[in-house]
Amino acid sequence: MRIRVFSCAREAGVYAAALAEQTILSSEHPVLGLSTGSTALPFYDALAGLTASGLDVSRTVTVNLDEYVGLGADHPQSFHRFMHEHLFARLAEPFAESHLPRGDAPDLAAECRAYDEILRRHPIDLQILGIGLNGHIGFNEPGHVLHSATHVVPLSGDTRRQNARFFGDAQAVPSHALTIGVQSILAARRIVLMAFGAAKADIVARAFGGEVSTEVPASVLQLHRDVTLVLDETAAARLPRRGC
Ligand code: GLP
Repeated sequence: MRIRVFSCAREAGVYAAALAEQTILSSEHPVLGLSTGSTALPFYDALAGLTASGLDVSRTVTVNLDEYVGLGADHPQSFHRFMHEHLFARLAEPFAESHLPRGDAPDLAAECRAYDEILRRHPIDLQILGIGLNGHIGFNEPGHVLHSATHVVPLSGDTRRQNARFFGDAQAVPSHALTIGVQSILAARRIVLMAFGAAKADIVARAFGGEVSTEVPASVLQLHRDVTLVLDETAAARLPRRGC
């Protein structure tokens, strides 16, 4: 596992975007796995900037991690809308294809199967991840088991409280989400997990400085052979060791 610590999130985002450019340039049909959340924003700023500077993303396919159950693509808090506003609408030219699970699909089990088929057709070259305060990746929440494939997940009280800031209050946060499974995340050729701010310091230390546990879903990334943690100094503060 490589650990890269930056003095601010903006610099970290520029570094992650350079890794994405490397991926895009080194593959005939590059596939980026993308995530939502405030952590991804500096990365999207830098990636959109790179396309304005000449990076060609017209062969690149993107697949997102998750979506809230019940929210259509036009809902202001949907991850579809997040991606459109923070990345897709800002590109100098569009990606070849962009996929997100449909939270308003009439048959959620069929939607999960269809999304796994999309993931099978587009194996992820670079997966960008954030981490929830409880250690979730995508919406793979802490528990006794971690699911391999795309599934419907009840969101934990912690997660609903954490995301209440976008919805006004925790009750308004959807109770369930669709998320790709940990096997799909671990199947990515390369993984970059970003975390910024003092609030993430504890969970980063638990996930990457300790044992692998389903109670800290991000800890399974310790089992992957090509993971880079992209942190700012405050998020890295409690890791036992730094460096590669
Ligand atoms: C969200 C997403 C995750 C994301 C996490 C962290 O709910 N499902 O993919 O990594 O929570 O969000 P933030 O970056 O805003 O802290």
